Amino acid sequence: MYRYIGNKKKLLPYIMASTQEMIGKTGTVVDLMAGTGLVAAEYRKMGYAVIASDMMTYSKWHLITQIMMDREPTFDKLKISSCYDNKYLSVLDYLNNLEPIEGYFFREFSPAGTPANGVASRKYFSAENACKIDAIRQKINDWIASDSLSEKEEAVLKHSLIMAVNTVANISGTYGYYLSELKRNALDSISLLPVQFSAGNIQNNRVIQGFAEDIAKDITADLCYMDPPYIKRQYAANYHILETIARGDYPVAQGKSGLRDWWDQHSKFCTKTKGLQSFEKVVSEMNCRNFIISYSEDGLFPLETLVELLKKYGEVDVEFIDYSRFRSNQSKLPLKLNEYMIKLRKAD
Ligand SMILES: C[S@@+](CC[C@H](N)C(=O)[O-])C[C@H]1O[C@@H](n2cnc3c(N)ncnc32)[C@H](O)[C@@H]1O
Repeated sequence: MYRYIGNKKKLLPYIMASTQEMIGKTGTVVDLMAGTGLVAAEYRKMGYAVIASDMMTYSKWHLITQIMMDREPTFDKLKISSCYDNKYLSVLDYLNNLEPIEGYFFREFSPAGTPANGVASRKYFSAENACKIDAIRQKINDWIASDSLSEKEEAVLKHSLIMAVNTVANISGTYGYYLSELKRNALDSISLLPVQFSAGNIQNNRVIQGFAEDIAKDITADLCYMDPPYIKRQYAANYHILETIARGDYPVAQGKSGLRDWWDQHSKFCTKTKGLQSFEKVVSEMNCRNFIISYSEDGLFPLETLVELLKKYGEVDVEFIDYSRFRSNQSKLPLKLNEYMIKLRKAD
């Protein structure tokens, strides 16, 4: 369960159709602001070589898991007694059955905790789940410190922990604030589930963590899919708890909501003053001819402004999303008509 702001689950057929129309069925594509990794994973499934990036650490773990791996990791360096023939399942079982710890998550994010800054206890997780999260985090950190995990193994475990945390979080969508009473899902016991890995080529795939504006110049691809934030809400603030799990650290939890200091992951795309420069830097500096940019009529910048900017670089075409095109009669998806994709074919 991942109610990630702006995830493109519903738009996948449109993005794939437009990509095929622009570059055919092969080549290298970049999912530049990849978030949950849904689009990158679909590109991989379609047979493209995929480069995926985002500024958030949690996104890096999702991306490595989804586009750099075609089978479960072997956990060769880890010394635990295996209860299954399969070491990966044994590792998950081991983590799921750790002795709970009253640690950082218990103190800062559960109703039974006493936050260090003296505010009222926060209710992001039940006390039981917070203690289980503390135990799993500590164990993963110990394994990293003793050099017992490869990067892919760390990715899979943190990806799974984040997915599990999402199912028991006591929130309405984002981690900006918690709900006043623990909801039913928050009372379920947290459990890490195995990832279903899919076969397929991973040889030429790559994951990069960084600001799109900074990394664009180092990327060469046939097509870049860009899905920037289109409103002022900052992802780093809204998903601070996932970032803390991804980093495995213990930041000061500030204010009533317990936000970590997130300024280092502040996005210029969420600002009227710097957003356009960021678009332009990416488009002008990346060694790539074709761009598909998802945006919304509710966004910070009007369509005309974006089109005017992009026209400096080549031929621009806008496709408004018509959900009925890919909609089955049974579909319960709401009709939203304000989303569009800008396609840019840069001039030589
Ligand atoms: C609309 S979401 C992408 C959702 C994604 N397509 C999906 O389906 O999950 C926007 C993403 O852009 C990332 N982001 C925002 N500003 C960024 C920047 N300057 N550089 C890199 N990533 C950025 C955010 O962390 C967020 O994951």
